[in-house]
Amino acid sequence: MTLRLTPGDVSRAAALLRTGELVAFPTETVYGLGGDARNPAAVAAIYAAKGRPSFNPLISHFASAEAAFREVLADDRARAVAARFWPGPLTLVLPRAPDSAIDLLTGAGLSSLAVRVPAHPLAHALLEQAGIPVAAPSANRSGAVSPTTAAHVLDGLEGRIAAVLDGGPCAVGVESTVLDLTGATPVLLRPGGVPEAALAALLGPIGRPGTVAEAAGGLKAPGMMTSHYAPALPVRLDAEAAQRAEALLAFGPPPPGAGLVFQLSAGRDTVEAAARLFAGLRWLDAEGQRLGLTGIAAMPVPEEGLGAAIRDRLRRAAAPRPRQGQGSKADA
Ligand code: TXA
Ligand code: MG
Repeated sequence: MTLRLTPGDVSRAAALLRTGELVAFPTETVYGLGGDARNPAAVAAIYAAKGRPSFNPLISHFASAEAAFREVLADDRARAVAARFWPGPLTLVLPRAPDSAIDLLTGAGLSSLAVRVPAHPLAHALLEQAGIPVAAPSANRSGAVSPTTAAHVLDGLEGRIAAVLDGGPCAVGVESTVLDLTGATPVLLRPGGVPEAALAALLGPIGRPGTVAEAAGGLKAPGMMTSHYAPALPVRLDAEAAQRAEALLAFGPPPPGAGLVFQLSAGRDTVEAAARLFAGLRWLDAEGQRLGLTGIAAMPVPEEGLGAAIRDRLRRAAAPRPRQGQGSKADA
């Protein structure tokens, strides 16, 4: 049985985390599946609850930049972006501090750690009251669409986690931007809630994985190209119209004749579309299957602003699915 907690129950959620239990909680991006990042049993339980097939590294969440920077080696660049974008939808990958309390499994044994200070007031209150670093991937079964409501969390994780803290729908709707600051050039590992242009304005040119000389320590973009965020129905990208048996994920006015339609943003606003993306994919998937449709056609979304993150998630939703038993590397 998974407890459903309301904002008034924050201290109870914090106590559960401190005793090694798993608690899903809202952030401004998506719901996280939280556990004590210092506790190997709690971290292993996160991988198990998600059914994550391999130990890809998790993000550790903190109430403040000061708390985050106790666990990593933060340079001037890290301090500058943190001052500008934290609390907020940005994750920094930095060298692990030699005396870090974070369990090795949280970082999948890497020499770097991913840290983030979320902006959601309930996440902040939870982290503050727990007083511990909280490891949290998105609160969905591995490879599935990320959750932006407590109901989405329970769809996949009911009975597998101690509690879910219900804070209503997430405002941003796509995960945090993951920025690697372990090397001389900052590298964008995952487009997300903070647009690349905003980071470049502060840091200068941002590299892509594999295009710059990488610091020692291996795995830079775990699971980047694998199928992910995948509804059961296949997804077709940059569709100008839906075919007869397809549902339509619309961005702007839908073409005439479309049947089952979910509108991401009638006014073609990428911020609004990001906030509605995962709920839309889930809804089209469920309704589409109920109606016997065979796929989801996604209208084109421009690269600008949060469009880059939306396109990234749609590309992965449309990627070839690993076959059962093939050892997928779906990362979250
Ligand atoms: O918005 C978010 O970031 C959400 C909320 C809950 O905070 N969390 C989230 O976590 O999306 P997850 O586990 O689904 O994605 C974490 C990403 C993965 O792509 C992982 O490979 C990468 O961050 N990552 C984590 N630690 C890393 C490291 N040390 N080096 C490189 N990539 C890392
Ligand atoms: Mg995820």
